[in-house]
Amino acid sequence: MMKENWNMPSLDKAKQRSKNQAVIEKSLFNIPFEVENLGVGRKYYLRTYGCQANERDGETIAGILEAMHFTPAENVEEADLILLNTCAIRKNAEDKVLGELGSLKRLRKTNPDILFGMCGCMAQEEDVIQTLLEKYPHVDLVFGTHNIHRLPVLLYQAMMSKEKTIEVFSKEGEVIENLPVKRFGTHKAWVNIMYGCDKFCTYCIVPYTRGKERSRQVEDILDEIHTLIDTGFKEVTLLGQNVNSYGKDLHLEGGFAYLLEEVAKTGIERIRFVTSHPWNFSDEMIQVIAKYDNIMPFIHLPVQSGNDEILKIMGRRYTSKDYLTLFHKLKDQVKDAAFSTDIIVGFPNETREQFEDTLKLVDECQFDNSFTFIYSPRVGTPAAKMEDNVSMEEKESRLQELMEHTNHWARVKNEAYEGKVVEVLVDGISKKNENVWCGYTKTNKLVNFIGENIHVGDLVNVKITAAKSWSLDGEAIK
Ligand code: 5AD
Ligand code: SF4
Repeated sequence: MMKENWNMPSLDKAKQRSKNQAVIEKSLFNIPFEVENLGVGRKYYLRTYGCQANERDGETIAGILEAMHFTPAENVEEADLILLNTCAIRKNAEDKVLGELGSLKRLRKTNPDILFGMCGCMAQEEDVIQTLLEKYPHVDLVFGTHNIHRLPVLLYQAMMSKEKTIEVFSKEGEVIENLPVKRFGTHKAWVNIMYGCDKFCTYCIVPYTRGKERSRQVEDILDEIHTLIDTGFKEVTLLGQNVNSYGKDLHLEGGFAYLLEEVAKTGIERIRFVTSHPWNFSDEMIQVIAKYDNIMPFIHLPVQSGNDEILKIMGRRYTSKDYLTLFHKLKDQVKDAAFSTDIIVGFPNETREQFEDTLKLVDECQFDNSFTFIYSPRVGTPAAKMEDNVSMEEKESRLQELMEHTNHWARVKNEAYEGKVVEVLVDGISKKNENVWCGYTKTNKLVNFIGENIHVGDLVNVKITAAKSWSLDGEAIK
């Protein structure tokens, strides 16, 4: 079954990159009059998977739904609309979503009018849409990452006509500035600085699901941050698939280093940014990070592999030596910096020796935190077409071995905090113990601590009393 009015994704189209600069739209989004009250008396349940860009999209989706007077449901049972905002980065992320979709189907028995929707990166994939049509016919609404602004109209169509609605654009559109947002935090916020990715690492689906690199204008970003400061926010995380590329499409002199300095000058207490590609991390960026106390000394620098041949086939554009040079430069210049990384094991045909190069690099860098993954073929990417002679059993055992190294260094790094006093931005009460507060250090370490007269959003000095692998324990000092 294929409807003429559906807009289906195409990975081939998504691969193309035009030279045209994205149009910045300051007033494109609107909620048509007839749609405005669609949510009155209706509840929505939104579940977001994956990265921070998706989390931030979730805040936009919630903002749109609440502008249409939907209210949040406490659980799926009381929802009239269930939306899964999905992630496509690895197969296990997709399997989780499909499993959830299958189990949610039961809700239609008790609520025949319930509407199931899927959006996010999975919606951008042709094979996923085929699977939905064949195996998950209860899904009523599918939209992608490029047309969130169309949600009011699409929802109206799906609810009123009771017809399946699919609208996914493969080519990115404008940068839309007037979308509503419902911030899920009260003192920490995500701020998009750019969308998309043009790096095309050979294993990665992101350049296909999120389109070409498009930067927001400096003044729009700064306006957003000033509004956040005025409403009590203490920390912003600047988001981009590769923030180092910020401003290239705008021909902005100074690029990300310039933006980062302007953000630092707003005076907001804490600034973080993700993700930086090791390839175009400029000296100017390092200088700005080192210069401002409100730019956090915490750098997520995905290495992916420690072997030059694998890095080359991955399309990463740096050697392990380049990576180490940058790493040590950052370490020398940014005082007390902490580092995290991403690593993929079991890339097609990775040999034992090549894997051992990754272990060597990990032991040299001694990362505070590492996100380690088994390579997962993604349909449409060049790596998915490569033959692979490494068994899954071998990949799993390499992952275990790698994690022994990364976990060891995480613990060693945490132990170095014992007895020190650190500044913690308070997030709230610890999930495990209601007498304990939790929050993060400047270097992004989770701290559970006791103290009197503490409030969410406070910056508190905490003495570290014990280190664990993934967190620190401490007590507030006056
Ligand atoms: N398989 C496994 N890991 C992947 N990543 C991206 N694509 C894949 C894939 N196909 C990892 C990379 C990236 C992180 C966000 O996810 O390490 O940095
Ligand atoms: Fe994927 Fe590479 Fe772009 Fe990161 S830089 S999103 S790994 S293509």
